[in-house]
Amino acid sequence: MSEKDHKVSRRQFLTYTLTGVGGFMAASAIMPMARFALDPALKAGAESDLKYVCDVAELTEDPQKFSFSFEQVDAWYESEVTREAYIFIRDNTVTALSPTCTHLGCTVAYGTQEEHPDRFFCPCHFGMFDKDGINIPGTPPQRPLDVYDVVVEDGKVYLGQINQRT
Ligand code: FES
Repeated sequence: MSEKDHKVSRRQFLTYTLTGVGGFMAASAIMPMARFALDPALKAGAESDLKYVCDVAELTEDPQKFSFSFEQVDAWYESEVTREAYIFIRDNTVTALSPTCTHLGCTVAYGTQEEHPDRFFCPCHFGMFDKDGINIPGTPPQRPLDVYDVVVEDGKVYLGQINQRT
């Protein structure tokens, strides 16, 4: 093989060099953007974590309101979220209800009405739910209060995501 066969023309040298430098610059620009775009997706699932709310010993057969807070990552926005739940225990089963009215989203309260001390009452349009969170016919809400996923472990109550009942 002669030395002439190994020679790279000026045009070939420039083509290789510019292709290499161009590829490097494109990768430098694209990689951070791809990482930025995919990062929240790669962390998905962290929000399904259960949150400690109270001890089983604190619960009664009547719903009681508990508040709990946790860090929430919503895409690229991190914030401290506070939630509330009405929790009760009956027949060794712990139930946690969302206090958000299923009519138009106001906050319900339990036992505030003198004439209905065992109901949830929504002040916005006078919606009512029984102590299990079932909507009372003839009031605006058309479905029961939503329920949290509940896990009881070592006498402690943990809540997960909120689920809609039909
Ligand atoms: S928002 Fe509760 S009754 Fe309308």
